[in-house]
Amino acid sequence: MGQIIDKLVEKSVRISGDQSSDIAINLYDGGNGIPLLFIHGFPFDGLMWRRAAEILLRKSLDAGDNQGAFLNYRTIIPDLRGLGKSELLTRSPTKTGISIEQYADDLDAILTNLKIDSRVIVAGLSMGGYIAIQFAHRHNVRVAGLVLCNTKTTTDSPEGLQGRQDIIDKIYNSWDTAAGVLDSVADAMIPKFFAAKTYSEKPDIVDEIRAMIKSNNPHGVSAASWGMMKRCDSSEILASFDLPVLVIGGEEDKFTPPDSMKQLAKIAKHAEYVEITAAGHLPPIEQPKSFAIALNNFIKKINF
Ligand code: MLT
Repeated sequence: MGQIIDKLVEKSVRISGDQSSDIAINLYDGGNGIPLLFIHGFPFDGLMWRRAAEILLRKSLDAGDNQGAFLNYRTIIPDLRGLGKSELLTRSPTKTGISIEQYADDLDAILTNLKIDSRVIVAGLSMGGYIAIQFAHRHNVRVAGLVLCNTKTTTDSPEGLQGRQDIIDKIYNSWDTAAGVLDSVADAMIPKFFAAKTYSEKPDIVDEIRAMIKSNNPHGVSAASWGMMKRCDSSEILASFDLPVLVIGGEEDKFTPPDSMKQLAKIAKHAEYVEITAAGHLPPIEQPKSFAIALNNFIKKINF
């Protein structure tokens, strides 16, 4: 356990892996207050939330922002099973992986382990959004509000499914040296993730995300690709929630563009939509302050 970055403490908790073994889940835990559970996207790890978490854990915004103070928060940011520093139980090369439902159940086990029994705000980005919807469905009593960033309820197109299978096959075929596969995953994805201004004005962020992808566990990336490939359409689940929902889109997102995010907000019964300017697929990374303000404004309206 150690202080990884300002205000966030890195911890490891053990959850059930299968009938015979536990696995260690790495997470970043900070602050005291309303619990915020952040679920990262693919192929990232929990640290993609660190800029937003550091802002949320400040007691107030900078003078001149005129957006009022932040509430008190506790941010809980796991590395999903097999990604970042969290373990994956894989004893031999495999082409199967972790279902979205399993990741959701892992989050329940993580909260139990941390002895958090008050309701949480769960925020997921992209793949994290697929998981957040399943978490709110399967562990509804745990959830006070749902934040869906740059995500969707629909399944993949045939080309998208083929792309997932290609990643799984490449990693399977080079199991012991598969890290190289992530270099090509990063090279293919990085030119599409961000808004124009992020590339020109914040190259450090682009570099950080490239390094995060390249250093990930390829077997965890393969497992997540399988989970996304097999996921079900969750539109009806989202439509069934009585929860307050905040939908966040990025003005220049090429994966889940603003129009698709506005449609997502229409599926939920009680949703509001906020678009973050000068952001692509990753608003909490590209515009963490605007993201934090949107989140804080949403949570202020929730009755706990
Ligand atoms: C993500 O950012 O998590 C990915 O774009 C999700 C996906 O590949 O469907």
